[in-house]
Amino acid sequence: MRSTRNTCLVLFHILVFSLLSLKITASPRTQGEALIRWKNTFSFQPSSLSSWSLTNVSNLCNWTSIVCDSTGTVSEINLSGENITGVLTEFNFTEFATLTRFDLSSNNIDGDIPSAIGSLAKLAYLDLSSNFFEGIIPSDIARLTELEYLNLFNNYFNGTIPHQLSNLQKVWYLDLGANLLESPDWSNFSAMPSLQHLSLYYNELDLEFPSFVLNCRNLTYLDLSLNKLSGQIPELVFTNLGKLQYLNLTENQFHGPLSTNISKLSNLVQLRFASNKLGGPIPEDIGLLSDLQLIELFNSSFSGKIPSSLGQLKKLQMLDLHLNALNSTIPSELGLCTNLTYLALAKNQLSGEIGNLINLTSLDLSSNQLSGPIPKTLWDLTNLQGLQLFFNNLNGTIPPEIENLASLATFDVNTNQLYGELPQNISRLPSVKSISLFTNNFSGSIPRDFGRYSQLTYVSFSNNSFSGELPPELCSGFALEDFISLRELSQRAYFHTKGNCPLSWFTAKVKDMRSYRGQAQQG
Ligand SMILES: *[C@@H]1O[C@H](CO)[C@@H](O)[C@H](O)[C@H]1NC(C)=O
Ligand SMILES: *[C@@H]1O[C@H](CO)[C@@H](O)[C@H](O)[C@H]1NC(C)=O
Ligand SMILES: *[C@@H]1O[C@H](CO)[C@@H](O)[C@H](O)[C@H]1NC(C)=O
Ligand SMILES: *[C@@H]1O[C@H](CO)[C@@H](O)[C@H](O)[C@H]1NC(C)=O
Ligand SMILES: *[C@@H]1O[C@H](CO)[C@@H](O)[C@H](O)[C@H]1NC(C)=O
Ligand SMILES: *[C@@H]1O[C@H](CO)[C@@H](O)[C@H](O)[C@H]1NC(C)=O
Ligand SMILES: *[C@@H]1O[C@H](CO)[C@@H](O)[C@H](O)[C@H]1NC(C)=O
Ligand SMILES: *[C@@H]1O[C@H](CO)[C@@H](O)[C@H](O)[C@H]1NC(C)=O
Ligand SMILES: *[C@@H]1O[C@H](CO)[C@@H](O)[C@H](O)[C@H]1NC(C)=O
Ligand SMILES: *[C@@H]1O[C@H](CO)[C@@H](O)[C@H](O)[C@H]1NC(C)=O
Ligand SMILES: *[C@@H]1O[C@H](CO)[C@@H](O)[C@H](O)[C@H]1NC(C)=O
Ligand SMILES: *[C@@H]1O[C@H](CO)[C@@H](O)[C@H](O)[C@H]1NC(C)=O
Repeated sequence: MRSTRNTCLVLFHILVFSLLSLKITASPRTQGEALIRWKNTFSFQPSSLSSWSLTNVSNLCNWTSIVCDSTGTVSEINLSGENITGVLTEFNFTEFATLTRFDLSSNNIDGDIPSAIGSLAKLAYLDLSSNFFEGIIPSDIARLTELEYLNLFNNYFNGTIPHQLSNLQKVWYLDLGANLLESPDWSNFSAMPSLQHLSLYYNELDLEFPSFVLNCRNLTYLDLSLNKLSGQIPELVFTNLGKLQYLNLTENQFHGPLSTNISKLSNLVQLRFASNKLGGPIPEDIGLLSDLQLIELFNSSFSGKIPSSLGQLKKLQMLDLHLNALNSTIPSELGLCTNLTYLALAKNQLSGEIGNLINLTSLDLSSNQLSGPIPKTLWDLTNLQGLQLFFNNLNGTIPPEIENLASLATFDVNTNQLYGELPQNISRLPSVKSISLFTNNFSGSIPRDFGRYSQLTYVSFSNNSFSGELPPELCSGFALEDFISLRELSQRAYFHTKGNCPLSWFTAKVKDMRSYRGQAQQG
């Protein structure tokens, strides 16, 4: 009996001793060895990891991508963007219980996340984004109760999102975007009061809006875009999530009107609700969101007026309402948005005249019912790079003031009732790449140096009443490639192209020679 007891005692001491010694020696050496064992499973050895070698184990804390704590054990591994091709199942998690930061983002790591990851009890930061991980997100991640940052963006995770993730009450940053995740039963999720940044963007989520989000009242960033969520946008989004600055529900199937409670999101900087089935009027109260810099409501069914209250948004830089059923005039108040640089109102039923809009770099009013001349103020928008006015009822001429638009790259006024001669200086716009004038009533000759000074790659004159000679630059020294609509040109009988452009040149450029020859014989 007694000897058994002694034996036990001795065994006990041996055990304690070996545990202690394990604890002492389990640190740098065995950690270094574990890292090297893992590295040896990579199918490619990045030269940046040459310091990871057995002969250098005493130097562990100076190895690239490794940070130690004051006791000399590894606290951070950062292999972000090191071109690692391997699997995490070969990583020895039990060796790294003291790890606080683990960054493997932007590599070629594939396979599952092993459930052993749950043993990294001190982990506060985990970034596995932009790899080739697959399979389900193991619920063991929820054992990482110290976690504050979790990024699984851009992998191939599938199955449903485990509700245990919502037990991670310290997490403020959670990105599960760009995976293959499906909607779980959201009612099993608890609120995450610390959560500030949540992205579930580009997954396979369907059914209703994730209900737990409505109680994450600390959210400043929410991206649910590119899913198949449906139903109405819950009122609690507007009444509970007042800290939101970035809200993106683009490309889902939400329907119904836009709540006037939108004005309660008083911190909103970017609002993206495009490509849903939202309809009805755009609430006037949107003009109370004084921090807004960007509004995207395109490709929906909004109808009625463009709210004149938008003129109160002094910080607004981008407004995109194209492809809706808006049928008002363009409110002149928009001219008060002095910081507006991008305005897209195309494909509505807007009528009346174009107001006074300054500082714009891009203006797209195409496919509406705008009438009258192109307003003089438009030629003062010296920052314009893109001007799209096609498919309207605009009339009048293009004045020489077009030369003010020194940054203009795209000029498209096709299908209007514009007339008169082109100003000679249209050919000298220094930045212009594309000019589309077809289907108007322009007349006179095309400026002779057209194409000489510019970067033109596309030009279309057809279906006008131009006459005279085709400028020689349109044949040679002109980066035409296959963009110029030569067939259109030659089909109009108004050009005496023969003589200016050698036939061989046309042979090379025009695919349908029959149509050209027909015209040439006539000319
Ligand atoms: C790391 O390298 C520095 C010099 O580069 C040296 O002073 C230090 O002792 C090294 N630390 C360890 C733990 O090897
Ligand atoms: C050991 O690691 C240090 C620090 O990273 C590095 O400067 C040194 O070149 C390494 N030595 C060997 C033999 O790899
Ligand atoms: C890892 O290193 C990259 C730069 O190489 C850095 O951007 C990233 O913030 C680092 N991750 C952590 C957790 O410190
Ligand atoms: C990245 O790794 C692949 C193998 O996975 C290798 O073929 C390639 O050369 C590496 N690229 C760089 C820049 O090291
Ligand atoms: C991981 O490390 C522990 C402790 O050093 C060791 O007992 C175990 O065998 C290792 N596991 C693997 C898979 O290498
Ligand atoms: C998830 O992906 C794995 C491997 O990529 C596959 O075997 C499994 O069937 C998928 N599960 C679901 C629910 O799609
Ligand atoms: C909410 O976020 C703020 C920072 O914006 C942070 O200081 C605060 O602790 C967070 N609240 C909770 C409950 O986590
Ligand atoms: C959604 O909107 C947020 C904030 O406005 C933005 O940062 C993010 O890039 C958007 N997502 C997509 C997929 O465009
Ligand atoms: C705009 O459309 C609504 C119906 O959607 C109609 O009641 C209203 O009269 C229209 N307004 C204009 C100016 O055409
Ligand atoms: C307008 O935009 C500029 C830069 O784009 C910015 O510096 C300025 O603060 C903005 N003005 C307002 C009122 O937001
Ligand atoms: C916009 O225009 C106004 C008035 O012309 C000017 O004061 C302001 O600086 C401009 N803002 C930007 C961002 O260019
Ligand atoms: C131009 O359009 C306006 C508005 O539709 C019209 O009143 C005017 O008569 C038109 N002018 C010409 C010359 O066609």
